[in-house]
Amino acid sequence: MKRHEFLSVLGISASTVIFAPFLTSCSKSSGVAADPVVPPSTGVDFTLDLTVAANAALLTNGGSLIKNNIIVAKTSTGVYYAVASACTHEGAAIQFDNANTRFICSNQSAGHASKFTTSGAVSSGPAGSALKLYSTALSGTSLRIFG
Ligand code: FES
Repeated sequence: MKRHEFLSVLGISASTVIFAPFLTSCSKSSGVAADPVVPPSTGVDFTLDLTVAANAALLTNGGSLIKNNIIVAKTSTGVYYAVASACTHEGAAIQFDNANTRFICSNQSAGHASKFTTSGAVSSGPAGSALKLYSTALSGTSLRIFG
């Protein structure tokens, strides 16, 4: 029996014999770092045109607005931050407190009044979890909010 006939009986093609060693070596660790894990998109990705009157608050340091359930604020030093606009305690609206460069819960009654850093972390409860932080990117007069 010739070689190709023998392999044919076993159901192995010549290409399997040729490439099998390479396939084996590909499955071994090569010592090269794996691709970085890309976090899944939350689907938030929109752009605010700062030349439009509805977005004019973001032209002023200390200004803020709410769009798509996200509060976007411009600090007194001109840095943009964007976090979820519903308090993680009981869902009251979040406001930007420019004087203290932080986000605060609009419900200021007893048992509420949580405060958050510009990155959304709780700095004062009762809220027990952070506000979702979104990325911002300014290009000319277009402010992109995404994450
Ligand atoms: S709803 Fe914001 S602290 Fe209670």
